[in-house]
Amino acid sequence: MKKYTIQTYGCQMNEHDSEKIAWMLEQMGYVFTNNKESSDLIIYNTCAIRQTAEDKVYGQLGSLKELKRNNPDLIICVCGCMTQIERSRNIINSKYKHVDIIFGTNNIHKLPQLIMAHEQTGDMIIDVIEESREINENIKSNRTHQHKAYVNIMYGCNNYCSYCIVPYARGQEKSREPENIIQEINKLSASGYREITLLGQNVNSYGKTLQQNYNFVDLLKDINTIEGIDRIRFMTSHPKDISDELIEAYGELDKLCNHLHLPIQSGSNKVLRNMNRKYTREEYLNKIRKIRKVVPDISITTDIIVGFPGESEKDFRDTLNLVEEVKFDSAYTFLYSIRSGTPASKMKDQIDYTTKHNRFQKLLNTLNRISLDKNQSLINKDKKVLIDGISKNDSKILIGRTESSKLVHLKGKKDLIGKIVNVRINDANTFTLKGQQI
Ligand code: 5AD
Ligand code: SF4
Repeated sequence: MKKYTIQTYGCQMNEHDSEKIAWMLEQMGYVFTNNKESSDLIIYNTCAIRQTAEDKVYGQLGSLKELKRNNPDLIICVCGCMTQIERSRNIINSKYKHVDIIFGTNNIHKLPQLIMAHEQTGDMIIDVIEESREINENIKSNRTHQHKAYVNIMYGCNNYCSYCIVPYARGQEKSREPENIIQEINKLSASGYREITLLGQNVNSYGKTLQQNYNFVDLLKDINTIEGIDRIRFMTSHPKDISDELIEAYGELDKLCNHLHLPIQSGSNKVLRNMNRKYTREEYLNKIRKIRKVVPDISITTDIIVGFPGESEKDFRDTLNLVEEVKFDSAYTFLYSIRSGTPASKMKDQIDYTTKHNRFQKLLNTLNRISLDKNQSLINKDKKVLIDGISKNDSKILIGRTESSKLVHLKGKKDLIGKIVNVRINDANTFTLKGQQI
C-alpha cells in the first residue's frame, strides 16, 4: 500500500484543506504515515502570511533532496498560499527542482489528476490558475477530530489590509451556498459531531456573492436549529463588519459560543489608517462594549501586529493601553513581516528589528498578565467542557475546551472524549485551566 504524509502550516483554513487532501488521497488508496522516510508521497500545505512561515517550508524542501535521491519514485507536492504567490512559486520552481507537483488553493480537487499526470510524464506539474469561480462541492474531508469539525463557509478576502498577502494568495471573496453548508452540517451531526467551527477569512461578510438575500446571521440562525450540534464557533471576523444584528444574535442563539476572535491589529488610529483597516480604535471599543452588554462573560481574543511601518512609541503605547482597556482573554501577536507586493512593503520608515522585539516583549508581558488574571477569576466557577482528547504528557489527564474556548485539563477516563461535562475550575495559569468533573 502506498503511504502519504502531510505537513500543514498556517491557519485553520489550511488545516481543513489538509483534511480534504487526506480524504482524496485515501480515496486513491494511499494510507497515512507520520514518517517522511517511508512515504511515497509528501505534501507541504504552506502559509505565506509571514516570511518565517515561508522560510520553514524552504528549509523542509531543502532537506528532502537526499530522500528524493535515494527514492526517485517519491512524489513531493507543495500546495497552499505560497504556491499562489508568483515570487514564492518561482523560488520553489528554480531552487527545489526535486518538487514534483505544485498546486494552488483553488485546485485541491485536481490533485488525483495531477498525480496521474506526473506519474505518466515524470515532469514537474504546476497548476495554480483558478479556472472557475464555482466552488467544488464534491470533496469530503478526512477529519482530525471525531466530534468537532471545521466547515468552510467562504473563501478569499476583499479587504486588502496593506500588510497582508492573503487577498493576493486566496483571491476574491466567494461564499458557499447555504444549502450546501447546512447539508454538510446535518451530515456531521448525524455522524456524532457536536461542535462546528465556520471558516472564512472574513465570515461576517458571508453572503455577499450569493444570488439570494442571505447573510451570516441568517446562516447562524439556521445552523442553531440543527439537532445534535451543541456549539457553533466561527473564525475569523473583521471589526468593520461586526453588525448589530450579529451582536443581538449572541443573545438569541443558545448554541453560539461566548467567544469572539476580533483582530484589532493596532491600537493607534494612525497605524490602523495606514493598515487600511477601515475602523478606528473608538469604533472597535464601541463594538466590544455592545457585545459585552449582550454577553457579559464573553471571551474576546485578538491578533496584534507589532512594528508596522511608521509605528512610533506613542502608537505602540496606544496598542498597550487598548489591550489594558479591552482586557483580551488572549491574543496572537506578530512581528510585522514585509510581504513583497503589498502596499506596506513599500512604506518608508520600516521599524528596526531591536525596536520591534522590545515592543513585542512588552506587549506579551501585558497580555500574559491579563490572561492570567482572567483565568484566575474563573477559579471555583463551574464550566461546561467539551472533552477533546488525552494530554500528550499524561494519559490520565483529559483536555477540553470551555464554551469560551479556554483550554482545561482534568482527570478522567477516555470514554468522556466527545462529551460535554461539568467541570469545577480549581486552578489556573496563563494558558490553561485545571479542574475536576462534578
Ligand atoms: N506581518 C505580520 N503579521 C501579519 N498578519 C497578516 N499579515 C502579516 C504581516 N505581513 C497577521 C494579522 C492577521 C493574522 C492572521 O496574521 O494579525 O490577523
Ligand atoms: Fe488579510 Fe485583512 Fe483579509 Fe484578514 S481581512 S485576510 S488581515 S487582508
